[in-house]
Amino acid sequence: MLIRPWRDGDRGLVVAAQEYLSPRTIDRRFLVGSGGRLPSSYLAHIAAGPRPEWDAQVAVDGGVLCGWAEYGRIPGGGPAADLAVLVADPWQRTGLASALIRALVQRMIAAGVTTIHADVAGSNAPSRGLVRALAGSDPGPSYADGLLHYAFGLAAVPVESLVRS
Ligand SMILES: CC(C)(COP(=O)(O)OP(=O)(O)OC[C@H]1O[C@@H](n2cnc3c(N)ncnc32)[C@H](O)[C@@H]1OP(=O)(O)O)[C@@H](O)C(=O)NCCC(=O)NCCS
Repeated sequence: MLIRPWRDGDRGLVVAAQEYLSPRTIDRRFLVGSGGRLPSSYLAHIAAGPRPEWDAQVAVDGGVLCGWAEYGRIPGGGPAADLAVLVADPWQRTGLASALIRALVQRMIAAGVTTIHADVAGSNAPSRGLVRALAGSDPGPSYADGLLHYAFGLAAVPVESLVRS
């Protein structure tokens, strides 16, 4: 399994990876009923590749994209970013999301991000478990518009938790 920064051509790997994504996984990531396909607006969004407003970290095995973590921010150089992650169904619960996020967070810090935001549905038990596992405890999200909202200051993330693989 190779974990690396996003590079040109990865949008094609995302499209091909849909074969390994259940509708539930896509719905949980995009917080909408997806019909089992990645939203076309999202595929257009990632086609532009890495830029100050967006970047991602991918996990690839034998040419198959197994998962990716990404952040977005407006303005491009701003200190706050939204973080999202998706792991394809066959590779879930193997530590991939944790590894992707740790690698991406190091790059976010280098890019000037100081605060991470993440929204998840209250019914998304895997994501809540992932947040608990990464934060070391339940960070106590706020609740708005039917979603749990997490906010993390990156200065509070122990260096050890960033480098553990
Ligand atoms: C949430 C998601 C990214 C987790 O990915 P993953 O690679 O399976 O997560 P990891 O294997 O790194 O799990 C790390 C920890 O998270 C927690 N966790 C992960 N999946 C869990 C589940 N199904 N139930 C409970 N806890 C879970 C556990 O504490 C786990 O550690 P453990 O396996 O040692 O117990 C994945 O389920 C997914 O892609 N879901 C759909 C998209 C989504 O909801 N994205 C998040 C919102 S942006």
